[in-house]
Amino acid sequence: MEDAAALLAGGGICGLPTETVYGLAALASDGEAVARIYEVKGRPSFNPLIVHCRDAEQARQVVAFDHCAERLAEAFWPGPLTLVLPKRDDAPVSGLASAGLDTLAVRVPAHPLVRGVIEALGSPVVAPSANRSGRLSPTTADDVLAEFAGAVPVLDGGPCEAGIESTIIGLAGSRPTLLRPGAIPASEIEACLGHPLQAPGGGIEAPGMMTSHYAPDAALRLGAGEKRRGELLLGFGGTEGADLDLSAGGDLREAAANLFGFLRQLDRQGRPIAVAPIPEKGLGVAINDRLRRAAAPRR
Ligand code: TXA
Ligand code: MG
Repeated sequence: MEDAAALLAGGGICGLPTETVYGLAALASDGEAVARIYEVKGRPSFNPLIVHCRDAEQARQVVAFDHCAERLAEAFWPGPLTLVLPKRDDAPVSGLASAGLDTLAVRVPAHPLVRGVIEALGSPVVAPSANRSGRLSPTTADDVLAEFAGAVPVLDGGPCEAGIESTIIGLAGSRPTLLRPGAIPASEIEACLGHPLQAPGGGIEAPGMMTSHYAPDAALRLGAGEKRRGELLLGFGGTEGADLDLSAGGDLREAAANLFGFLRQLDRQGRPIAVAPIPEKGLGVAINDRLRRAAAPRR
C-alpha cells in the first residue's frame, strides 16, 4: 500500500482493488497522471471519473453535500455507492478528471487495500474501472495485468466481492436520480431516502444530464492556422501568437491535462476562441473529440 501510494504521489498510475471492480488509479489533483489513465485505457473521449475518498469528511472537501448526501453517506459508506454532487471550487481535483463539468462523482470504497492507499497518500484518487475502452471491468489482479499486457502495476487484493460497479446517484439536479444501477439495489437507496429515485432523463431534469459536458459560451473555431481579429488563440506545440498554449513542447498528455482549465480561462474573457490543430493520434483523438463537441452549434 505504501509503495502504491508513493507511486501515485510521484505521478504514476496503478491498478487498485475495490469491493466492486479493480480501478486504474491516479492522484486526483495530478492532471498529467489523469491524462495517462485515458491514454492507457485507449478511450476515444474523456469521461468524468469517480473520486475515491478516505471518508465523508474528505469527500466534503471536494463536493458540496446536501441533506440526501449526508443521509446516503451515513447509510452506505464505506461501500459501493457513488454520489454526483456540485464540485467545490477549491477541490483538489484536475479539471480533466471531471471532464470540465461542475459536478463530481465521489465515493468512499470499502476494500481495505484501496482505503490504505488513500490513507497513506493523504489525498483522494480518481479511478475508472481498470479495463481498456469498451471491455469488461476486471475483477482480479490478473485481469488487470492481462488487460494492459503487464504495462500497469497492480496491487493484488484478491477477487472483488461485488464484481459489478458501484450504484451512481445524481444529487446535483432537482431530485435524486439513479444514474447507473450497480452493486447496491435502487430499492435500498429509496428506502433510505424515503421516496422513489428519478430515472435518468425522466421528469424535469436538464435534458441529457448524465451526458452533458462542459461547453464554453464562446464560439470555437478549430484547426486555426492563426488568430483573426477579436479572437483569442489556444495554441498547441508552440503556436505563434497563442494566448495560451496547451503544450508548448507538443506533449499530448500535458495538453489533455490543460484542456478544460485553459478553455475556461479563455472563455471568461468573452471573446471567440480559435484553436490550433491538434494531431489526431494518441490522446489527441480524445482532445479533438472534446473540442468538436464544444464547437458544435448550440441552441
Ligand atoms: O465501482 C465503481 O464505481 C468503479 C470502481 C473502480 O470504483 N469505478 C467505475 O468507474 O466504474 P468508471 O469510470 O468505469 O465509471 C464511472 C461512471 C461513468 O459512467 C461516468 O460517466 C460517471 O461515472 N460519472 C463520473 N462523474 C460523473 C458526473 N460528474 N456526472 C455524471 N456521471 C458521472
Ligand atoms: Mg468503466
